[in-house]
Amino acid sequence: MPEMQKAGLSLGNVSAGYGATVVLEDLSFDLAAGEKLSIIGRNGVGKTTLLATIMGLTRLHAGRIGLGDRDIAALRPNRRAQAGIGFVPQQREIFPSLTVEENLLVGLRPGAWTLERIYELFPRLQQRRANMGNQLSGGEQQMLAFGRALLTNPRVLLLDEPFEGLAPVIVEQLFHALLRLRDEGGLSIIMVEQHAKLALAFAPRTMVMSRGRIAFDGASRSLIDDPARLDALCGIGGGGLH
Ligand SMILES: Nc1ncnc2c1ncn2[C@@H]1O[C@H](COP(=O)(O)OP(=O)(O)O)[C@@H](O)[C@H]1O
Ligand SMILES: [Mg+2]
Repeated sequence: MPEMQKAGLSLGNVSAGYGATVVLEDLSFDLAAGEKLSIIGRNGVGKTTLLATIMGLTRLHAGRIGLGDRDIAALRPNRRAQAGIGFVPQQREIFPSLTVEENLLVGLRPGAWTLERIYELFPRLQQRRANMGNQLSGGEQQMLAFGRALLTNPRVLLLDEPFEGLAPVIVEQLFHALLRLRDEGGLSIIMVEQHAKLALAFAPRTMVMSRGRIAFDGASRSLIDDPARLDALCGIGGGGLH
């Protein structure tokens, strides 16, 4: 791969929100090329807003967003996608009146990910390839949202609560697929996840957000080894994390 393809992501003193409202306050972090990062935190602390801000879907009040050596803060969302950021939103946003295969091909860009590889990763999607988007189960929709993002051949993949509302057996299948992606290297991944166990197991590095700020950014291991600290960071009783 050319050097540009290996670029990481960096946020510098980012403040962002909706209209005049500031949700994220002075956030800074770097994600190296190929690095995996989990983000946890209670409901409403700004996890989705952070991913949306990287995608250009919020109002940026201050700060820099870099992809490799390029400042992407002024780019519109579709240009950021073209620059190499793939986004799997919390609502999945499947096109109901397109088939599975048509949904997959919507953002297709040439690269290592091909339709064949997506079908190999998610055989279920191949079986359902001619079904309409609105005929899919929640798990199938999530696989489709994943596959569609991968087919844009991004450098950075953003996942917003990919396991939300799914049956345990589906969660296990999807998590397995994600671990495969993780272990293949290459792609940088940020996964926002409510299940702290899955989040900590997925990435060696975890960030805990609290009220629009970064309350912790470090080794997942240190939180696995210190449940009391994890609990304190995520709020009383784990703040709904499990
Ligand atoms: N479209 C929006 N317009 C205005 N405020 C919003 C919008 N989306 C989220 N918020 C507010 O931003 C804050 C962070 O929300 P969000 O990023 O969705 O949190 P999380 O993903 O961590 O649950 C919350 O106070 C929420 O009410
Ligand atoms: Mg959210």
